[in-house]
Amino acid sequence: MKKYDYIIVGSGLYGAIFAYEAKKRGKNVLVLEKRSHIGGNLYTKEVEGINVHVYGAHIFHTSNKKVWDYVNQFTEFNNYVNSPIANYKGEIYNLPFNMNTFSKLWGVITPEEASKKIEEQRSGMFTKEPKNLEEQAINLVGIDIYEKLIKGYTEKQWGRKCTELPPFIIKRLPVRFTYNNNYFNDRYQGIPIGGYTKIFNKLLDGIEVKLKVDYFSQKEYFDEMADKVLYTGPLDQFYNYSEGVLEYRSLRFEHEIKDMSNFQGNAVVNYTDVETPYTRILEHKHFEMVETNKTVITKEYSIDWTLGIEPYYPINDNANQIIYDKYKKLSDKEPKHLFGGRLAEYKYYDMHIIVERVLELVNKEFPNE
Ligand code: FDA
Repeated sequence: MKKYDYIIVGSGLYGAIFAYEAKKRGKNVLVLEKRSHIGGNLYTKEVEGINVHVYGAHIFHTSNKKVWDYVNQFTEFNNYVNSPIANYKGEIYNLPFNMNTFSKLWGVITPEEASKKIEEQRSGMFTKEPKNLEEQAINLVGIDIYEKLIKGYTEKQWGRKCTELPPFIIKRLPVRFTYNNNYFNDRYQGIPIGGYTKIFNKLLDGIEVKLKVDYFSQKEYFDEMADKVLYTGPLDQFYNYSEGVLEYRSLRFEHEIKDMSNFQGNAVVNYTDVETPYTRILEHKHFEMVETNKTVITKEYSIDWTLGIEPYYPINDNANQIIYDKYKKLSDKEPKHLFGGRLAEYKYYDMHIIVERVLELVNKEFPNE
């Protein structure tokens, strides 16, 4: 009956890298994926010659050369630099907050003028012990940046008013006193030329993958078929929610083909007012500098999450952390199951961290190979 060394639940970045590394070491591997495609949330789909980031904008960035070299063995990355802009009621500002932003907001020119202005704004409305996110944000950057670039966006993201959100959500806000719109500080960044799905085709080449198969539809059967099972799905679901449900925020994406070559002139535009219902619009061709007559855009809406809809951002507050810790204790004792990835660890992880973490597991599983 036993057929596989490893069954891997989930074909996202975590599961696919583990499958690749196990196969490389001669292991017999089966990947189960409940969606109709491989790649998890990194999946890109070609539409009108443009690679569409189906589950939201994904920009690979890292300062870890080992991770960068690792992903570059599967594809070539372009030189895309993430420089999102904010649209506040038709006014355009550069992000992250930098000299371009300050200059547009206040007409200041030098870093000294900008820091003086921010200090003036902060001290004007300073709250000694901020009780909510609004007070915290004003303490950090002052009223103008808060009102135009933080308030509406944050309220849409969390589905609650900033005055009702706890201050700890924003511990610090990066403020940069250079004319530099590069969002990330990392040494390496880019987008895979030809889309992310290409990476997954290579990772899973020659590996048996069953699409549209939910592990839980036949859990016992699959468990018996393998020496070990790597599970990358939601941890609470693995235990049938016995200790409680781990909460998330979710997203809704509206993809649209436009009969024009350039819709917004940038890959990512954040809508920072509260009235516009979506948080951002992506225009996918600008991730890869594609020249075509048409363009594909995606409106991203932040929505409440309930069991059954796609979980995106874990709500890592105290109540959820307590529940997670209980599941973690249980999962540490499982004799044949391994757990990893954003859902099984209930944590927001950027892609480079996922690569680091799964390679740690690979080293642990195959110490001498
Ligand atoms: P992922 O969710 O990708 O894969 C898990 C897979 O398991 C899924 O395919 C799922 O269908 C499958 N599965 C679950 N349960 C199953 C079951 N019972 N049976 C079978 N299959 C099952 N990072 C970054 O570095 N730069 C960026 O720009 C972004 N951008 C970004 C935008 C948005 C909107 C989000 C939400 C996240 C990002 N990220 C990011 C983070 C990035 O998406 C993340 O690091 C990876 O998707 C994590 O990969 P995993 O394999 O852990 O999960």
